[in-house]
Amino acid sequence: MIILGIETSCDETACAILEEKNGSFSVLANIVSSQIALHSAWGGVVPNLAAREHLKNILPVINEALKKAKLSSSEIDLITVTNGPGLIPALLIGVETAKTLSYLWQKPLLGIHHIEGHIYANFIDSSTTLSLIRRGAGGEVKSASSARLAKAMAKRADKFPVLCLVVSGGHTQLIFMKKHLHYEIIGETQDDAVGEAFDKVARILGLGYPGGPAISATAEMAADKRGLNAEKRGLKKLSSEPAWQLPKLPRPMINSKDFNFSFSGLKTAVLYLVKKNEKLLSDKNFVSAVCQEFQQAVCDVLISKTIRAAKKYNPQTIMLAGGVSANTQLRQQLGASVKDELPHALYMIPDISYSVDNAVMIAVAGFFRYKSEKNKKGLRDNWKKLATSANLKLK
Ligand code: KG4
Ligand code: ZN
Repeated sequence: MIILGIETSCDETACAILEEKNGSFSVLANIVSSQIALHSAWGGVVPNLAAREHLKNILPVINEALKKAKLSSSEIDLITVTNGPGLIPALLIGVETAKTLSYLWQKPLLGIHHIEGHIYANFIDSSTTLSLIRRGAGGEVKSASSARLAKAMAKRADKFPVLCLVVSGGHTQLIFMKKHLHYEIIGETQDDAVGEAFDKVARILGLGYPGGPAISATAEMAADKRGLNAEKRGLKKLSSEPAWQLPKLPRPMINSKDFNFSFSGLKTAVLYLVKKNEKLLSDKNFVSAVCQEFQQAVCDVLISKTIRAAKKYNPQTIMLAGGVSANTQLRQQLGASVKDELPHALYMIPDISYSVDNAVMIAVAGFFRYKSEKNKKGLRDNWKKLATSANLKLK
């Protein structure tokens, strides 16, 4: 079957077309029009600006996807769209467009939870990569993908139960899945989400938006300078130690017995550290050492709780999902801990190109939802009733 996915929950206008044959997928098109350049001037996403951009870009993005896939609307079997959670003005553009297309084309329509999409990004085979078609703030194409790609999936997992660590700009959760589409949230953040903490700390350090990639790149510098990766990268190790002490940050809730998280105190600790050492902010080595310590504090907490939860719940698979799953240290360190402490568990991470928001993940999740749907014919009428919710619950 051919599935068209739409995603507009935050600052990416995305459309993908996926072909499913006997449980394996080919990504026929994956178009992402990013608004990062627009929002970075404001230090974060401005909901109404995002909606205006989605409105401008949604039809060109869908057209581009159909063109790339060399398909006409009559060949689409199912339309899937993110209907929450997210920014309401942004979500509505995607949902109302999907409803209109469902009515006009007379195709079944399914609403997908954004986090379900992130989790199902793990079911796209990472051995096949798809270079995204990225568009700038003005909608221009920045790089093009080769068309037919990405075979695979079912063979990748289906090893349930699964324990999934979800880390994005709006969510930080440990989710236990007994089977497909079955979610039990066993822990979550009590305040800021991890991605939010990355973004806020980057703002404190003057590193721009989005903060995750900026902090991770700046932290790499510290590792290099202190010789951690120096040899590998052919760099010279610093000959003398810096005049300042290496920053030390807390690991909030690392020893709490539950599986919840808290990142707002960690962000405040960075703020106090910076206030105390304002003069050092012009020292790039100091800023990169702060980034490295912050990133390590985040990794320590996330990994320790995930491993502890796994020891209690005995999953067969550990998964990572959400935008922060693009973080190299988190991917590597969690993988190493799973190998050491849970040698029988399968470790799954999404391909980097499917870690951050995209519409392929919405189409993949849509396929599994469609398969489990008892009243498939009823989906034809979903254009009349599909609701959008900023706080949609995963169920
Ligand atoms: O899933 P996502 O694209 O959007 C939401 O659903 O929120 O996640 C975006 C978040 C941002 O906070 C961004 O800073 C973070 O993911 N992020 C990263 C990295 N790449 C993106 N955080 C840490 N390291 C990265 N490499
Ligand atoms: Zn997301």
